[in-house]
Amino acid sequence: MRAIQALLLAITVLFFSCISASAQCVALTFDDGPHPSLTPKLLNILEHENVKATFYMVGRMVKESPAVARAVAGAGHEIGNHSYTHPNLQRLSARDVLSQIERADEAILAATGSLPKTLRAPYGEVPRVKDIHGRRYVGWDVDTNDWKYRNSAHVTHVAASSGSREIILMHDIHPTTVAAVPAIIQKLKARGFRFVTVSQYLSGECSTVAHTS
Ligand code: NI
Repeated sequence: MRAIQALLLAITVLFFSCISASAQCVALTFDDGPHPSLTPKLLNILEHENVKATFYMVGRMVKESPAVARAVAGAGHEIGNHSYTHPNLQRLSARDVLSQIERADEAILAATGSLPKTLRAPYGEVPRVKDIHGRRYVGWDVDTNDWKYRNSAHVTHVAASSGSREIILMHDIHPTTVAAVPAIIQKLKARGFRFVTVSQYLSGECSTVAHTS
C-alpha cells in the first residue's frame, strides 16, 4: 500500500513539473512601427532582458526608417506584415488588399533582406481574401489598448496579467508603452513565463508539454 502511495505521489510530482516547465508561454507583439526613436529604445530593453518579440510593421514606416527595421531583424526579432498604409482591409477590393500586402512585403524585404512570415490586419479587420502567398493573418488574445490608455501602469497591469499561450498586442509608437515593457517582462518572468515569437507560437512551441528529461 505504501509503495502504491509513493508511486502515485511520484507520478503527480512528475505531471506537475512537466506542466510548469513548459506551459507558461507568451508572445509579445508590437504593431504600427518602426518608430525612429522608440523602436531602438525598445530593442535595447529586449536585448537587456534577452527576450525575442514580433513586430508587425507598416510598410510606409519601414520606408521612412529602413535602418530601424534592419536593426529589429538583425537582433533576431520576427517581423510581420501590417499592410502598407494601415487601412481597413475589409473595405478594399481584393486587388487593393494584395497591393497593400505586397508593397509592405517589398519595403520589408528591401530593408531587412527577408520577407515577413505572417500578416496582421490593421484593426484586426481580416479581409475576405485570407490567403496571401500562403501566409495567414495573426490576431491577438490580449489587447492592452495602449493607444487609448497612454499610461504605463495600465499597460503593464493588462499585459502582465496575461494567461499562458496568449499573444499580447502593443504598439511601439507610444512612449508610455515602451516605458512599460521592462516591468511587463519582469512580472511575466516572475510568474514563470517564457517568451516566443509568433512563428514559434504557431509552430506549437507554446502548446507542447516538454519532457522533463
Ligand atoms: Ni495597427
